[in-house]
Amino acid sequence: MIFGWFGRKSAHKEKPTAKEDTSSMANARIIDGKAVAAQVRADIAAKVAALKSANGFTPGLAVVLVGEDPASKVYVRNKGAQTKEVGMNSIEHKLPAETSEADILALVDSLNKDPAINGILVQLPLPKHVDAEKVLNAIDPGKDVDGFHPVNVGRLWIGEAALAPCTPTGSVILAKSVQENLSGMNAVIIGRSNIVGKPMAALLLRENCTVTIAHSRTKDIASVVRGADLVIAAVGIAEFVKGDWIKPGAIVIDVGINRVEVPGGKAKLKGDVAYDEAAAIASAITPVPGGVGPMTIACLLKNTLQAAQMQHRLAITA
Ligand code: GUN
Repeated sequence: MIFGWFGRKSAHKEKPTAKEDTSSMANARIIDGKAVAAQVRADIAAKVAALKSANGFTPGLAVVLVGEDPASKVYVRNKGAQTKEVGMNSIEHKLPAETSEADILALVDSLNKDPAINGILVQLPLPKHVDAEKVLNAIDPGKDVDGFHPVNVGRLWIGEAALAPCTPTGSVILAKSVQENLSGMNAVIIGRSNIVGKPMAALLLRENCTVTIAHSRTKDIASVVRGADLVIAAVGIAEFVKGDWIKPGAIVIDVGINRVEVPGGKAKLKGDVAYDEAAAIASAITPVPGGVGPMTIACLLKNTLQAAQMQHRLAITA
C-alpha cells in the first residue's frame, strides 16, 4: 500500500488576511505525485522481474503514434523510456500523418494477435481523417491499457476485473496516499468526461465513497463542492475551483493541466484549482505540475502488467 509521500508541510498556520499572499500560508500537505509515481514504478519493476524469473516472459507494450503532434511525440518518448525502465518491452509504431484508417486498423489487428504484445495504446489525438472511436474500439479489450474500450468501461461499472483509465486510477492512488481508507467520504468530481470524470466515479464508488459528479449545468456548483471531503477537479479550466469552495480539511486532487499565458509572453501550467487559495484550507492537495501528471504513465505500466497477468491467467498483482 502507498502511504505518506508528502512534500513540505508549511510552518505557517495563521489564517491569511485578505491582502496577504496565501502562497506562503499553505496548511495543506503537498502530495508529491512524482514520488508516488516513482514508487508505483518501483513496485511494477519488482513484479516484472518476478514474472520473468517465475514465468519466463517479459510484458510488452505497443504504442502507435500517427503524425507529428509535438506533445504526442513527447508523451510517446516518455512512455517508451519508462516502459523500458521497469523492465518491460516497448514497441513503438510511428506512422505518417496521412496513414489511412484501414492501415491503422490492420496494425491494431496484428497487435491484437501478437502474443508478445500485452498492451496496446493508440496515442490521441489521431489525424482528422481517422475515426478515433473506431480505432480504439478495434483494440482487444484484454490489451486495452487505456481502459477506453466499452467492454472495460462496462466491466469497471459492474465491478468485474477491468483495465481502468490511467489518470483516474492515478488520482485515486494519490488520494489513498493521504488517507488509505476513503470509505464513506463525500467525493465531488468536477467534470463528466469519459476519460476522467465518469471512470473516476466508478473507481471512487468501488472505494465506497458517496460520489457526486458536478458539471457545467450543475446549479450552485460552489455549494456542491463545499460538501466534499474529497474534491477531484477535472474540468479543463484554469483555476475554476476557488479556495472558498473547499471544505476545511478536504483532500483536493487537481487533474487539470492548463497552459496559461503570463505577462512577458511566457506560458505557465495551471491546474483546475486556484492552488494557493485552496492550499490554505485543504488538508492535502496535488500541485500542478508534479501531482496527477506523473501518475498517468505509471498507471499505464500498471495496466500493462495487469493485462499480461490476465492474458497468462496469473493472479493479478499489478
Ligand atoms: N493523449 C494524451 N493522453 C492520452 C492518453 O492517456 N491515452 C491516449 N491513448 N492518448 C493520449
